Amino acid sequence: MEPGGVIPQHVAIVMDGNGRWANRRLMPRAAGHKQGVEALIRVVRACVERGIGHLTVFAFSSENWKRPAEEVSGLMSLMLSTVSKHVGRLAEQGVRIRIVGDRSRVSDKVRGAWEEAEQRTVHNSRLVLSVAFNYGGRWDIVQACQRIAAQGVPAQQIDEACLSRHMALAYAPDPDLFIRTGGELRLSNFLLWQAAYAELYFTDCLWPDFDSAELDRALQSFARRDRRFGEVREAALPDQGTAQVEA
Ligand code: IPE
Ligand code: IPE
Ligand code: MG
Repeated sequence: MEPGGVIPQHVAIVMDGNGRWANRRLMPRAAGHKQGVEALIRVVRACVERGIGHLTVFAFSSENWKRPAEEVSGLMSLMLSTVSKHVGRLAEQGVRIRIVGDRSRVSDKVRGAWEEAEQRTVHNSRLVLSVAFNYGGRWDIVQACQRIAAQGVPAQQIDEACLSRHMALAYAPDPDLFIRTGGELRLSNFLLWQAAYAELYFTDCLWPDFDSAELDRALQSFARRDRRFGEVREAALPDQGTAQVEA
């Protein structure tokens, strides 16, 4: 069976649409982000129940600093309150938390909370929840190259495997299923390297409305995909007998 098989080993999600969810209810955007956390907690549980080993979510992109300062600081506070409110329950479910992204730009307080959450769940292995925060696919490729160069690796030894070992998600298999909620049909700089052969699934569902039924729709779509990884598969070849009859 190909990586992922029928149930993907690794699901990546661009959790988009929080602002629109709030706008439609005449609520501040922050209310959408708060509901977005609830959706994430639901989806983590659903992934645990379905035996998915890795869930990677896009929580804050390298480009999201361009948002109004008030929204950015609201997202930082939400990160802190989410960690203190939910890490205990996630730990009980066997979830290991890992943060991926450039940590240098966040406050000591946020960094400290992340380190605590990672330490507290370090022995869990049922599901690895990677939260991409101040993450960008281009940043990831650049930081991998910088670390390789800093180690003095000779040019001829730099290959795809070497680069993969230095990417932020080196500990995880490449994502099998890449979901984006909120209706936009773009990657927005998420997992550019790792998603090379991911199956893409886009839905208009706004992230705060995403639940286990929506996840199952994505999983059903994934299960129907014919993943060829560049090969020609026997099933796709024309049936010889039929071809002769037609000739
Ligand atoms: C995604 O929702 C969450 C973050 C980017 C932090 P948005 O805030 O982008 O929601 P929309 O796209 O404006 O609806
Ligand atoms: C992508 O959503 C980033 C996250 C979900 C964290 P954006 O809302 O920032 O993406 P664009 O701006 O529509 O491309
Ligand atoms: Mg958006």
